[in-house]
Amino acid sequence: MGITYNENNKTFHLKALDTSYVMQIVKDGYLAHLYWGKKLRNVNAEELLVLRGRTSFSANPEDSDKVFSLDTLPQEYPAYGNTDFRTPAYQLQLENGTTITDLRYEEHRIFKGKPKLQGLPATYTESDDEAESLEIVLYDKVIGLKVYLLYTVLEKLNVITRSVYLKNEGENKLKLLRALSMSVDFIREDFDFLHLNGSWARERHIIREKLTPGIHSIESRRGSSSHEHNPFIALLSQDCTEDKGEAYGLSLVYSGNFLAQAEINMYKSTRVNIGINPFDFAWLLEPGEGFQTPEVVMVYSSEGIGSMSRTYHKLYRTRLCRGKYRDEARPVLINNWEGTYFDFNEEKLLDIAKEGKKLGIELFVLDDGWFGKRNSDNCSLGDWVVDKNKLPKGLANLGKQLEAINMKFGLWFEPEMVSPDSDLYRSHPDWCLHVPDRTRSTARTQLILDLSREDVCEYIIKSISDILRNAPISYVKWDMNRNMTEVGSALLPADRQRETAHRYMLGLYKVMDKLTTDFQDVLFEGCSGGGGRFDPGILYYMPQIWTSDDSDAVERLKIQYGTSIVYPASTMGAHVSAVPNHQVGRITSLKMRGDVAMSGNFGYELDLTRFSEEEKEEVKVQVAKYKELRTLVQFGDMYRLISPFEDTKNETSWMYVSEDKSESFVAYFRILAEADAPIRKLRLKGLDSNKDYIVDGIDGVFGGDELMYSGITIPFLFGDYQSVVWKIKVLDKA
Ligand code: DGJ
Repeated sequence: MGITYNENNKTFHLKALDTSYVMQIVKDGYLAHLYWGKKLRNVNAEELLVLRGRTSFSANPEDSDKVFSLDTLPQEYPAYGNTDFRTPAYQLQLENGTTITDLRYEEHRIFKGKPKLQGLPATYTESDDEAESLEIVLYDKVIGLKVYLLYTVLEKLNVITRSVYLKNEGENKLKLLRALSMSVDFIREDFDFLHLNGSWARERHIIREKLTPGIHSIESRRGSSSHEHNPFIALLSQDCTEDKGEAYGLSLVYSGNFLAQAEINMYKSTRVNIGINPFDFAWLLEPGEGFQTPEVVMVYSSEGIGSMSRTYHKLYRTRLCRGKYRDEARPVLINNWEGTYFDFNEEKLLDIAKEGKKLGIELFVLDDGWFGKRNSDNCSLGDWVVDKNKLPKGLANLGKQLEAINMKFGLWFEPEMVSPDSDLYRSHPDWCLHVPDRTRSTARTQLILDLSREDVCEYIIKSISDILRNAPISYVKWDMNRNMTEVGSALLPADRQRETAHRYMLGLYKVMDKLTTDFQDVLFEGCSGGGGRFDPGILYYMPQIWTSDDSDAVERLKIQYGTSIVYPASTMGAHVSAVPNHQVGRITSLKMRGDVAMSGNFGYELDLTRFSEEEKEEVKVQVAKYKELRTLVQFGDMYRLISPFEDTKNETSWMYVSEDKSESFVAYFRILAEADAPIRKLRLKGLDSNKDYIVDGIDGVFGGDELMYSGITIPFLFGDYQSVVWKIKVLDKA
């Protein structure tokens, strides 16, 4: 059983495979947090909750009880203003201007399954037996505020999810100023704070810092989850490594502004919370109205960061991503963007596609520049009509020609945007996000459509659907190339303007839901200038995302390694591009570029017609090899072996192991050559120590134990930018 309630001591005990999470109703209905960590058989609530009277600087709600203060009570959904001085999980403004609220336990229910969240993406179950949920209702009787805390235990997956629904059941308006998705208090402070940081073309680099007293936070104010910060943090025990120690992951299923923070207060306890960023956010609740927060996915691992990542990978691969392609090996693609940019015609595209077909590639993707009069990035977004100068016979004809060579057809869109130089903007200048009398700041000469508006969402759905219905398109790349400024909507009243950014996200999710439901045979890939919106919210609609606009093999090591902290390889678009690389000018071998890209969702992004016969031959071999490997890489368990963020930063290694441990793919990369390099062994992980394996390219039979504890020898490598990959098979399968 995942969830139990003990009436005697009023404790809730949530149990997943190796995790316990315990709460208690204390005093006059406060909901206390007692424990989150390794699974416990039973709990002794008195031992878990220790209260101690402090000084007059931590006030007491009841004068008669000097021991009880909300400033020291570990809580589940804390408020500010009535004795707790730490960061609150929520805050509301009443009609009288004040912000004091007081939530007490009202009732709870435990039930099988996992409810959907209204209008928001979330992890799901396929049958009610996979999960058990707990809803705890808290009530502020003075203002009629009801808060529904929802917890779901996905027992076998070792995951607990949380979200919150706040409802105004009073007679007056309430204004939400803050509504985070969760909060947890630990009565310890010895944590490191891990997060994924970056910028355009440098996404999700791992940052790990020791927590110190005060607030440590990351956030996005960009209107999307952003290149800069990913909606994920982990608290780690200070001894935590890839394979040992405690990791507490918090991953927010949301693609907009978020805040994640950890606060060590003066009593050395740590409060951690995550949710929609309260910055520039407010939400009016008229009587009877409610607000749903996004879901946070909480993963505890007692076996280091690697195990936490594998838990996220499995969950996100199987119970966040959806649709036909969720479990299907993804096609190898050729994308024309870095090959031609805006300079192409039908003949050029078909030449690339035909060359790709000869080499075994399965899908041709036509990127930006096929519509309006778009010969550069300064016009036509919003006018989703084919450019007859480039494609005189239209998309349908191009699709037909691709079909004739048995190549699938993929198409790029940037549906959320409008260029000032477009028919759409000329006829609907108020359809973009803007604020009256203020500049409409452009970025890449474009503005953002106001997806908080129904009519705008309808326009996007219709224009994209028309294209998808009229040409044989089986893949869509959904791009988004700027962040929000002058965030305001022409349709919202003054007291709802600060709802715009979240309403935009709700509109975006609605549009994505409609299109992915109507076009179930289309494989959708998310993109935002590479990985500017690489988050679980998008993955709910699109099972893969273009990881980064940086396609340099060396830069990709950090980007893909960092991304793998939360996201599985099946979600990571990874392409081989031309050299010198267009982002950093580096020249790496085709082999290394191939090996890096094969560690994700593989493809090419260059003009294949410019390749020599020798290079084409190498591509052919790479494509064939990836086809053999792709199920393993996309759906296997990933083990990280050497981090590009640590030590010399000169090496990186990772491997994928099939669920039954019969097959593995190991990749090792060395960046700069070393003179008189030492002999090194690579110790593998995740194999079966009792099984015998054959390693491609190395004579002999090796026990799984030998491969893991002694390792395989890294061969002598001459020159910069080297890679070695090994395919490993269990003996009787070899
Ligand atoms: C940004 C994307 O990340 C690129 O892959 C490419 O599609 C361009 N936009 C096209 O404008």
